[in-house]
Amino acid sequence: MVNICILGGGFIGRFYADSLIGRRGKDLVKVVYARKEETAQRFAKDYNVPYPITDMEAAITHTETDIVVIALPNYVHEEAVMLCVKHKKPVLCTKPLGRNAEEALRMTLACEDAGVFGGYLEDLCYTPKFLKSVKRVEAGAIGRVLWAKSRETHPGPHSDWFWDIEKAGGGAILDLGCHCVEISRNFIGKDILPVEVMCWADTQVKPIDAEDHAIGLVKYENGAIGQFEVSWTFRGGMDLRDEVMGTEGTIWINSFLRTGFEMFTTGVGDGYVAEKAESASGWQFPVGDEAHELGYPNMFNDMFDAFEKGVQPQETFYDGYVVNAIIDAAYKSAKTKLWEPVQLPIWRGQRGLSKPSVYQEHDAFHWFIKEEILPNGDKKLILKNKETGEIVVR
Ligand SMILES: NC(=O)c1ccc[n+]([C@@H]2O[C@H](COP(=O)([O-])OP(=O)(O)OC[C@H]3O[C@@H](n4cnc5c(N)ncnc54)[C@H](O)[C@@H]3O)[C@@H](O)[C@H]2O)c1
Repeated sequence: MVNICILGGGFIGRFYADSLIGRRGKDLVKVVYARKEETAQRFAKDYNVPYPITDMEAAITHTETDIVVIALPNYVHEEAVMLCVKHKKPVLCTKPLGRNAEEALRMTLACEDAGVFGGYLEDLCYTPKFLKSVKRVEAGAIGRVLWAKSRETHPGPHSDWFWDIEKAGGGAILDLGCHCVEISRNFIGKDILPVEVMCWADTQVKPIDAEDHAIGLVKYENGAIGQFEVSWTFRGGMDLRDEVMGTEGTIWINSFLRTGFEMFTTGVGDGYVAEKAESASGWQFPVGDEAHELGYPNMFNDMFDAFEKGVQPQETFYDGYVVNAIIDAAYKSAKTKLWEPVQLPIWRGQRGLSKPSVYQEHDAFHWFIKEEILPNGDKKLILKNKETGEIVVR
């Protein structure tokens, strides 16, 4: 059992509390920190938290704080992590870890050097559908992963600071792309080096300095390609989809907008539909157990189990730093319009991989290209002559 201190009483702090409390779990939220007295008091009342506090350091050092959960805006992550390191308190930080890789690396190394447990709260790598998909990929069910695409789009975030490029560190790429990049890394292999990034980004709708829409490609050393599609201008709810293509199979995941629950209402009666749902009437796509579909309970189980066993969680601060480094390259590419290298001063995965050969032997004289059965039942075998390069059909 662990006693938890949540820093931040806003949107994600409340989602975390919803995931930690009321599931007959053994962990307890004992301390909450918010800047404003009224936010701390309201949170404490709603979630039965005994110690609402308006001083961040006092919340971290509270005797009832075993582990700290950072649910604060991006520009406060480093300060909060460093306070945890100063007081040797285990710390879990929401996404993105840093506003850039420099911040994220400082946080990662500070925790590691001080022997402080750190976990990266990347919930979308813990959704039930995602965990099962990754297991199947790791078991080889879709062969070698060639392309892993992840999309997160919605009509834009809910608080002022997200829209301020200095406080947030970026726009839709950083806010949503951090999920997508880590999802693709998990499918392609977290030990595979991300080499370079090409990105288009634009501010199509909102009067802000950051991008509100972007698409990016991340090239990996083994030839696999990751893709992210992110937007703060998408209409119609929150669209979370992943697609993975392998040499032996395919996976499509729809995590939010179509989970198999569809309803129609003329708009009578009140009620919440789902995160970022834009309408309370017409056809709707609610989500049964939102916290679970978004991965929060599985994520905290992994974090607290790892903490108690003294091992690394599935998502670490180091992962958060690699994600930030890929996103830094994306921002650079959006400006230069070139493939930009991913700068990873510290890399702990494999090196020196290359794209596997495309040549598969059919017989002593031919390479195999494709086999197909036509509507009339004929079977076609398309081959390439090893000597002449001629393409032949049998
Ligand atoms: N799926 C996810 O994992 C997910 C979803 C949403 C947000 N987040 C992340 O959670 C963090 C917080 O986002 P949110 O949506 O809860 O924002 P929010 O604005 O709803 O809440 C932020 C909280 O921090 C407090 N705060 C604001 N500025 C502060 C400051 N300078 N010092 C101390 N406290 C301050 C606010 O009062 C509020 O209680 C961000 O890093 C965001 O990227 C993660």
